[in-house]
Amino acid sequence: MKGDAPATVCVTGAAGFIGSWLVMRLLERGYTVRATVRDPGNMKKVKHLLDLPKADTNLTLWKADLTEEGSFDEAIEGCHGVFHVATPMDFESQDPENEVIKPTIEGVLGIIRSCAKAKTVKRLVFTSSAGTVNVQEHQRPVYDENDWSDLDFIYSKKMTAWMYFVSKTLAEKAAWEAAKENNIDFISIIPTLVVGPFIMPSFPPSLITALSLITGNEPHYSIIKQGQFVHLDDLCESHIYLYEDPKAEGRYICSSHDATIHDLGKMIREKWPEYDIPTELKGIEKDLPLVCFSSKKLREMGFQFKYSLEDMFRGAIETCREKGLLPYSTRKHDGSKEKVLPPCSTEAHANDHEKGSVPCPVESHANGKV
Ligand SMILES: NC(=O)c1ccc[n+]([C@@H]2O[C@H](COP(=O)([O-])OP(=O)(O)OC[C@H]3O[C@@H](n4cnc5c(N)ncnc54)[C@H](OP(=O)(O)O)[C@@H]3O)[C@@H](O)[C@H]2O)c1
Repeated sequence: MKGDAPATVCVTGAAGFIGSWLVMRLLERGYTVRATVRDPGNMKKVKHLLDLPKADTNLTLWKADLTEEGSFDEAIEGCHGVFHVATPMDFESQDPENEVIKPTIEGVLGIIRSCAKAKTVKRLVFTSSAGTVNVQEHQRPVYDENDWSDLDFIYSKKMTAWMYFVSKTLAEKAAWEAAKENNIDFISIIPTLVVGPFIMPSFPPSLITALSLITGNEPHYSIIKQGQFVHLDDLCESHIYLYEDPKAEGRYICSSHDATIHDLGKMIREKWPEYDIPTELKGIEKDLPLVCFSSKKLREMGFQFKYSLEDMFRGAIETCREKGLLPYSTRKHDGSKEKVLPPCSTEAHANDHEKGSVPCPVESHANGKV
């Protein structure tokens, strides 16, 4: 909290795209971090955490799984704060109820019980999702923290990733009730599509969507058709900012830019002409209104976003190139387009980060959100 010396905090899902960047920023600030992962012995999945500055003195890895009751007790015991970032993202699950929805809801409830048992936790920060806000039949021009996705619509459409939208919506709602009953200081942060440089070793789930115009991963176009975006660093800074401000309460949308797929195409074509970006997008209207996620509440707390949309994409593209996850160009010498194998869908590889970039077709996410 503001004014206090940085203390011990627990970050769940610490090896992932958002979790690992958050751990890095917390360590820089002097926090002692307990990072939970499902398999601390898997060096491919945790080396990027162990290599962080100050990791040798201020970071410990803890094994914990959202599907196991009491799994987080030890990691949370004695902590001052908890950042609950982990979530199952197997959108192609054959048993979505048991593999995605139940673990997400039971997971956050279990973490609230662990916080209650610990008696040391001053605040629990939950990384929610835009999927809890605007998955609705008719899109409105502006969304804020009062909005919730329409579960009847989601269940009736069963669009790709429907179980993720259900899981995050029900988990956040259940968490609000349980936190109140257990007297836990709980806040939720609602990121839109998170884009930027990263330290995890494989292709981050959200970049499969964000970079789909480059990779030609057409099924993901619907997600960025009328998109909203936030830089990974801004998102992680907002987590720490709100964690440290005693006045923070309720839900906070964290989103800095709204853009249509046409705006994105134009930007990428101008800044990275070496990528062949389609000018005609089949089935997508030319004139699309923006759909805005308002971060007014977060800005009114004094938080300032630092990054532009171009910064987000520059960071993401450069990191993917450095890690060998994205070609430097998709144009052949004769001017024709090089075939790029799109990385596997968010959903399919989210629980199997070692796989990295593998070809794999995915279906469309109607009204999709990450
Ligand atoms: N990226 C975005 O654009 C975006 C936007 C909105 C909201 N979010 C939210 O941000 C959070 C992090 O997403 P991300 O993009 O960083 O995804 P990610 O890279 O896939 O990270 C998710 C982490 O969750 C962990 N996890 C999955 N199932 C688990 C289980 N049963 N028990 C314990 N841990 C489990 C995984 O840990 P292991 O390392 O153990 O496999 C993984 O590292 C999620 O809550 C997501 O809903 C993300």
